[in-house]
Amino acid sequence: MSNRRFDIIVWGATGFTGKLVVEYLRDYHPTVKVAIGGRNQTKCQQVLDDLNLDWPIIIADAFDEVSLRTLVAQTSVVCTTVGPYSKYGHLLVGLCVEEGTHYCDLTGESPFVRETIDRHHALAEEKGVSIVHACGFDSIPSDLGVFYTQQYVQSETGQYATEVHARTGKMKGGFSGGTIASMVEMLDSLPERPELPRLLMNPYALNPDPKFKGPDGADQVGVRFEKLSNRWTAPFVMAPTNTRIVRRSHALQGFPYGKSFVYTESMGFPKGLKGWSMAVSVTLGMGTLIGAMVSSKWLRHQIWQRMLPQPGEGPSREERDNGYFTMHFFAKVGEQVYEGRVSDTIDPGYACTAKMLAESCLCLVENRSELPKVGGVLTPSVAFGEVLVSRLQQAGMKFSCRLYTT
Ligand SMILES: NC(=O)c1ccc[n+]([C@@H]2O[C@H](COP(=O)([O-])OP(=O)(O)OC[C@H]3O[C@@H](n4cnc5c(N)ncnc54)[C@H](OP(=O)(O)O)[C@@H]3O)[C@@H](O)[C@H]2O)c1
Repeated sequence: MSNRRFDIIVWGATGFTGKLVVEYLRDYHPTVKVAIGGRNQTKCQQVLDDLNLDWPIIIADAFDEVSLRTLVAQTSVVCTTVGPYSKYGHLLVGLCVEEGTHYCDLTGESPFVRETIDRHHALAEEKGVSIVHACGFDSIPSDLGVFYTQQYVQSETGQYATEVHARTGKMKGGFSGGTIASMVEMLDSLPERPELPRLLMNPYALNPDPKFKGPDGADQVGVRFEKLSNRWTAPFVMAPTNTRIVRRSHALQGFPYGKSFVYTESMGFPKGLKGWSMAVSVTLGMGTLIGAMVSSKWLRHQIWQRMLPQPGEGPSREERDNGYFTMHFFAKVGEQVYEGRVSDTIDPGYACTAKMLAESCLCLVENRSELPKVGGVLTPSVAFGEVLVSRLQQAGMKFSCRLYTT
């Protein structure tokens, strides 16, 4: 792999997030050998012109095996932002495993991840090829947040927490058309895939053995006051993806926190009336939107076309620069509670996601011998662990932990 022409090919560079990844690599890692990939030469050239770059362009379509294999065989790592992944990602993952090329993506589509596990994990592990899903806001803050908090708790107390509850803190950002398209694609496929609701409801859908029986239940649906963190909590739209990734990480590591370890994720709001009313409004607003999107295909497409961003669109530079997020991880060990935090001062879904994806790929280029595990269908914490925490800290993300007092 070290003889490959490129270290990284950013495939999907003409899309909203792909272009941000290219810009990030240009600004912060200009010596890495990068090419951009896409299906349209003119659009790819436009990206290079906009970013004042002369990097090579590799043309490949998601459904054209010959062009895609040629792309995959030229690089050590494929960094893909071509989504919806369940629509465009299957051939690429298979070719990466065949050609011995590492792979990182931004998928939050659990059914896609489940399929790549079933089809490719064993061979990828045998061949030492890392297929790393969810290297964006879904699910790096959750996955590395739990990892970091547990390492801290273990170093302080000699044991791991038996429960970790992730609660969102202050957060500002937007959605791109590609993200909405991925949600719509998953909902559209439900009638042809009757097994999907069951898979999506399974808290252990992405465990190596999805029949694993543990103490985790369904994701939160209503508003609740939580004594442990002393705040109001509400359902979090990303919990169904993030919790499954965190549980897969735990299982792939051999259950170091114990088979009765509990992980939950929801939105957090301050205690008091103001916090309660915020939790209720967010729950009602999101519930209404999601209910309408789920209720009928026609309504879903009307809402998407009339109210939501289309593929290629997303938050403006100003919105990205003015975004921020904090996630809190309340970890219970005996009678004590520790609070881990992961935060950044740019918008989580795009500017920070571009950083997280690029730094994940760079772990496979620059730190391969230091990585905890190489080979298999992996999660970010299992594939990169402390190496990625440290890279992201150097890139401005904050990780911290302390004993929590309410
Ligand atoms: N995990 C996270 O936190 C996170 C954050 C952001 C995005 N995402 C995910 O990332 C994905 C991309 O989002 P986005 O907003 O950047 O989407 P986007 O702007 O619509 O970009 C999609 C990209 O896919 C390319 N593409 C489409 N069909 C193709 C084909 N047949 N062959 C090759 N390339 C093809 C498009 O090329 P053309 O320009 O030629 O159409 C474009 O480059 C989505 O699945 C989204 O859910 C996840």
